[in-house]
Amino acid sequence: MKWHVFLCVLLMYNLKVSSSSSAANRCFCQVTGSLDDCACDVETIDTFNNEQLFPKLQKLLESDYFRFYKVNLNKPCPFWKDNSLCGQKNCAVIPCTPNEVPEGIKTNDHHNMYSAEANQECEKAEKLGAVNSSLSEETRQSLREWSKHDDEAERFCVIDDEESPDSQYVDLLLNPERFTGYKGPEAWQIWNSIYEENCFKPYTVKRPLNPMSAYSGSDGKMFYSWLEGQCVEKRAFFRLVSGLHSSINIHLSARFLLDDNWYEKKWGHNVSEFQQRFDAQLTNGEGPKRLRNLYFLYLIELRALAKILPVLQRPSFQLYTGQSVQDQQLKLQLIELLQVAKSFPLHFDETTLFAGNKEEAATLKEDFRLTFRNISRIMDCVGCFKCRLWGKLQTQGLGTVLKILFSERQIEALPKSSNSRPTFQLSRQELVSLLNAFGRISTSIRELENFRSLLSMVR
Ligand SMILES: *[C@@H]1O[C@H](CO)[C@@H](O)[C@H](O)[C@H]1NC(C)=O
Ligand SMILES: *[C@@H]1O[C@H](CO)[C@@H](O)[C@H](O)[C@H]1NC(C)=O
Ligand SMILES: *[C@@H]1O[C@H](CO)[C@@H](O)[C@H](O)[C@H]1NC(C)=O
Repeated sequence: MKWHVFLCVLLMYNLKVSSSSSAANRCFCQVTGSLDDCACDVETIDTFNNEQLFPKLQKLLESDYFRFYKVNLNKPCPFWKDNSLCGQKNCAVIPCTPNEVPEGIKTNDHHNMYSAEANQECEKAEKLGAVNSSLSEETRQSLREWSKHDDEAERFCVIDDEESPDSQYVDLLLNPERFTGYKGPEAWQIWNSIYEENCFKPYTVKRPLNPMSAYSGSDGKMFYSWLEGQCVEKRAFFRLVSGLHSSINIHLSARFLLDDNWYEKKWGHNVSEFQQRFDAQLTNGEGPKRLRNLYFLYLIELRALAKILPVLQRPSFQLYTGQSVQDQQLKLQLIELLQVAKSFPLHFDETTLFAGNKEEAATLKEDFRLTFRNISRIMDCVGCFKCRLWGKLQTQGLGTVLKILFSERQIEALPKSSNSRPTFQLSRQELVSLLNAFGRISTSIRELENFRSLLSMVR
């Protein structure tokens, strides 16, 4: 039976900015009801996610299998010279001009280009953005055994990153995605090159470098208006990227560094940061669209989870950590989660994408693939290591989602017998990134509820 056929890609263009002045309304007025002419409404997704899926998923992600992610954080940026002086040290602070540097320092050290104060800032951001790669010797040993096990499994494709000696395992629970102080021009450049050069956007529409400034094209048009002329697929691509961007910004606003002094660091919700990014008035009407794109991304990723159920249900599929009782329990837990995902009544139907004539569809799909791969390479240009870690994980997760959605035939053709070569496989790395990336989106949807109630207290 088909799970059904709702194409959620038609965008709503005529923006009706709410006249209500309530702070909550200005972010959420358009984030309600049916999602762009499709039957999946925001409230259904909220309830489904927050009550059913989110708690199960959180539990799963705390397991040993899902908390360790192998990543190469030392690849050079392939597209531009990393010219932030402390970017190398995973810091994101604008260097001082030489005349800001006190004479005493200059005469002592001709190479020192930073003022003492900037250095402090630099150290602070470096600390916040640093990746804690500590693993116990015991964990290291078991990870070696896991990868030996993984290598024995037949693999469909080799992800070069994993083989590189520079790749290292990172404990995701020790490195939560949160505010690191990485912002300003360097961070804008990342998103700007994604939107400007990797989203099929025509050159005539310019996005300002500073996303906080009003968005309008050179001809006075809103940034979004270029989407009108695009085909469904390219609009969908843009919405996925925008949804990912929204999700990351929600995390940074929800785990903002509120207090930083000698006796404590306190992380929590910063409502004004959230408003800067999502309030309709402060963003020239874009904020609520960004939130709608988050829901779109959620539906796409949820669909992919529902689709891999048959792959992971196969008896030969194992979540290997070497602890056979726990491994089997974890597999049951994972399958239960995917069954919940599958039970969602209003699934997105990806078969309507690339439904044009065969040649056209194949070209589009290839465009998609190349562009997406390019975006994942841009992640090596992210200056702050912790942001780079989560950026890479989430793009790999979304890449895995696309791989699943476009492998429908291979998944259907899975042989019944576990002796024959499977027509579709996921590596541990793909599975870990898929579930953790979805965990981020699911957490964002959950966080929106918190921001809704916090905003209802703001005037
Ligand atoms: C990394 O995490 C471990 C375990 O929580 C902790 O003991 C250690 O101090 C952390 N290292 C840094 C540099 O934060
Ligand atoms: C990849 O991204 C870079 C940086 O934005 C851009 O300059 C380049 O044109 C892109 N390449 C392709 C093949 O899309
Ligand atoms: C919250 O974020 C804003 C920027 O949007 C910043 O000016 C303010 O200091 C932050 N509040 C706290 C308590 O850190």
